[in-house]
Amino acid sequence: MADDMRAMDAPTDGPSDPGPRHVAIIMDGNGRWAAARGLPRAAGHKEGVAALKRTVRGCAGLGVRCLTVFGFSTENWRRPADEVSDLMGLVRSYVASDLTGLAKEGVRIRVLGRREGLPPDIAAIVRKAERDTAHNDRFLLQVAFNYGGQADIVDAARRHAERVLAGEAPVDISEADFGELLSTAGAPPLDLIVRTSGEVRLSNFLLWEAAYAELVFQDILWPDYGPEALKAAIDEYQARERRFGGRPAQTAITAQTAKAN
Ligand code: FPP
Repeated sequence: MADDMRAMDAPTDGPSDPGPRHVAIIMDGNGRWAAARGLPRAAGHKEGVAALKRTVRGCAGLGVRCLTVFGFSTENWRRPADEVSDLMGLVRSYVASDLTGLAKEGVRIRVLGRREGLPPDIAAIVRKAERDTAHNDRFLLQVAFNYGGQADIVDAARRHAERVLAGEAPVDISEADFGELLSTAGAPPLDLIVRTSGEVRLSNFLLWEAAYAELVFQDILWPDYGPEALKAAIDEYQARERRFGGRPAQTAITAQTAKAN
């Protein structure tokens, strides 16, 4: 699976492609959007799905080849049962309907996060969406669902330990090899993380992958989001100088090294 995705994994730092190639979004503010209108939170989540559709469709024109969104965290189970049920219902309809259309447009769908604990019908929908789009390589849409960055790292460490115990891998492991055990294995390096709604934290999202990503926080509630707002975030990204821990003159070389790692 990981190997097929490398077609989307070309350098972003050439002058002809300033990137970002891979953008991740923490879609925050659905509840506040609804409250400001005197609507139930479910209405905010519904509009959030519409914003997600707009944003995915705007990606191609902005040069983005991979989008990762935070749909439901391992911590979101703590929300009231009716809200959890609303979010599950939206995922059912989104994955079953819109994502099928996206699949025809060359979008590969991948769901990040633990499958255990998902309602069985959602797990089946997810499996089908991934299977039916596995051949697509124009655009990669990763939906983090029942996902936590720390849990993903723990799961990867457990897999490594199992391989070591089975005599299939040495104890010593490089960052690159460890990255191959994460649920994002094979996706392009993460260039930009956006969080909407004015909150300024990562909330356990893509902790490993965020190592050298640029962070942009936008004061816009997620249901109001779309290609224009994404373009503003990309403009901010492109005005930054990425150093990957080096000095400015070393940036191009070090960026390649970071990608190789
Ligand atoms: C944050 O808003 C958003 C979420 C918890 C979930 C995001 C979900 C969607 C956009 C809908 C469906 C998702 C998929 C994957 C199809 P919040 O409720 O925390 O807002 P608040 O901070 O204003 O209360």
